[in-house]
Amino acid sequence: MGRISSSASPWRVGILFSETGVTSVIEKSQLHGALLAIEEINEAGGVAGREIQPIAYDPGSVVTRYGELAETLLAQDGVNVIFGCYMSSTRKEVLPVIERRNALFFYPTLYEGFEYSPNVIYGGAAPNQNSVPLASYLMENYGNRFYFVGSDYIYPRESNRVMRTIVRQGGGEVIGERYVPLHAQAKDFEVILRDIRRQQPDVIFSTVVGTGTINFYQAYRQAGGDGKRVPIASLTTNEAEVAQMGAEAAAGHITAAPYFRNISTPANQRFLERYKRRFGTVADVTSCCEAAYFQVHMFANALRQTGTTDTDQLRAALSGAEYDAPQGRVKIDPDNNHTYLESRIGRVDDQGEYVVEFEVGRAIKPDPYLVVPALHDWSMQLIRPREGRFKM
Ligand code: ACM
Repeated sequence: MGRISSSASPWRVGILFSETGVTSVIEKSQLHGALLAIEEINEAGGVAGREIQPIAYDPGSVVTRYGELAETLLAQDGVNVIFGCYMSSTRKEVLPVIERRNALFFYPTLYEGFEYSPNVIYGGAAPNQNSVPLASYLMENYGNRFYFVGSDYIYPRESNRVMRTIVRQGGGEVIGERYVPLHAQAKDFEVILRDIRRQQPDVIFSTVVGTGTINFYQAYRQAGGDGKRVPIASLTTNEAEVAQMGAEAAAGHITAAPYFRNISTPANQRFLERYKRRFGTVADVTSCCEAAYFQVHMFANALRQTGTTDTDQLRAALSGAEYDAPQGRVKIDPDNNHTYLESRIGRVDDQGEYVVEFEVGRAIKPDPYLVVPALHDWSMQLIRPREGRFKM
């Protein structure tokens, strides 16, 4: 274990996750994941005897604030590396700021794909790692008639475009596609829920995010919807949001993600124990929290090699880098700066816990442009998980 020199200046890194506003539940979980990793690194002696110092701002879930605060971090705070963003609309605000200054941005969130920047390291799932296996699972277990409901911004619209292609490739059909405002209340779902009752889909694919998720699942339950019969399937709905909506509204619904809190890897057990010690609970541990956590550790490992936060040197060190994350071993793909990730499908039980129904059992190469959208491959790749899960 190294030692932090009292005279050495810290490595300053920017953090842009919202602690307030519509996506604050999930972004706080990302903030916690990043801070926990930074604290672990500092407790182990920092990097080259220098501690990592987070400079964190709260953009309040206001899309334009992310770009403004990225500019503040780079121009005023002397930072060259930023971790942040949940909504793709906020990443799109940060992107030109980062690229203009040739800084490095770590994005620990699943997204719609179809993007590459030499200045971004993508730590969340691309469509081939979540949408394709999810569609395969749903068509095999529930049926072919899909109804899409999303928040009105880039990720839901693009993610639905991708999902429509996959579903049709598998012989299914999309019988409805509706959008609600980002700040959707229960009443915003009334007309949609009436249409769902009339059309009787086999499955609802939700790209609703933030507080709208809680309102949607609760409104579905109140309207007589039953997740065990016709589930809402999602790429974003997570442990922290399920805790907020309650087990009754969440039961039976499905999420595809690289990580779920109760998976039984030794790295996850260590992660959860430290997380609980630091934050007092693991209720808000999510796949995006885990991605923020392992991205900070991968950055620190790269920094140990480079000894500088210079973007070009860090990118070279990160390219092909591997890490034993709580989800399993992950790797940054030198082809596209995205990450090889596990692929799992979880279903909420009556206690409000995700139970992993299927997992691939290895990290999947990211294919952000869906060059190889082979739905039929997935039904063979999905395997049942090994027994065992952690209870905290
Ligand atoms: C997202 O907007 N990428 C969840």
